[in-house]
Amino acid sequence: MVEITVRETVEADIPAITAIYNEAVANTVAVWNDDIVDEANRRQWLAEHRVPGTIALTAVMTDDTGAEQVLGYATYGDFRHYDGFRNTVENSIYVDGARRAGGVGTALMDELIRRARDEGKHVMVAAIEGSNTASLKLHAKVGFEECGTVRQVGTKFGRWLDMTLMQLML
Ligand SMILES: CC(C)(COP(=O)(O)OP(=O)(O)OC[C@H]1O[C@@H](n2cnc3c(N)ncnc32)[C@H](O)[C@@H]1OP(=O)(O)O)[C@@H](O)C(=O)NCCC(=O)NCCS
Repeated sequence: MVEITVRETVEADIPAITAIYNEAVANTVAVWNDDIVDEANRRQWLAEHRVPGTIALTAVMTDDTGAEQVLGYATYGDFRHYDGFRNTVENSIYVDGARRAGGVGTALMDELIRRARDEGKHVMVAAIEGSNTASLKLHAKVGFEECGTVRQVGTKFGRWLDMTLMQLML
């Protein structure tokens, strides 16, 4: 079992995060974007997750020389951009394809939830593609409850995508 450390995301993580994100864009319906991005795009993304009300966390393992290897990352940010939603955040989470089902997602979610609680947030929402069993199970494992599914609100790879909403009372 790999020892997993979760810490705030830093610039040095950007190449690995870009690769993980692009793999999810190219091969999964986890993210409903069609185009892969460059590292400058993810640097901008990181800057946007370094303001109050948002956070980006990276899961790493450290080898004998002290070098870190990125295993995955997770964020939260505004759920919706209206004043009344100020106490609600929406999360996102991606684990390296070679590291899935090894506890990395759970470690990231545990720390993400702890940070949101510390920041005084009230609810965390996850919007999950309806057939994404791994994500639905991960969120249920850390306490999220299913709220419902909006059908065929997305499209990718030539088919309609359902969005299941889950929420955690913080
Ligand atoms: C969803 C994702 C983040 C889960 O991360 P992970 O590191 O694999 O999750 P964990 O190993 O901590 O597993 C947590 C729970 O999820 C469930 N799970 C994980 N992978 C699963 C799979 N392939 N099938 C079914 N259940 C799975 C298990 O119930 C597991 O709990 P357990 O280990 O106590 O049985 C990861 O699969 C991923 O990055 N997928 C691609 C991107 C994505 O879908 N992101 C979420 C978008 S909403």
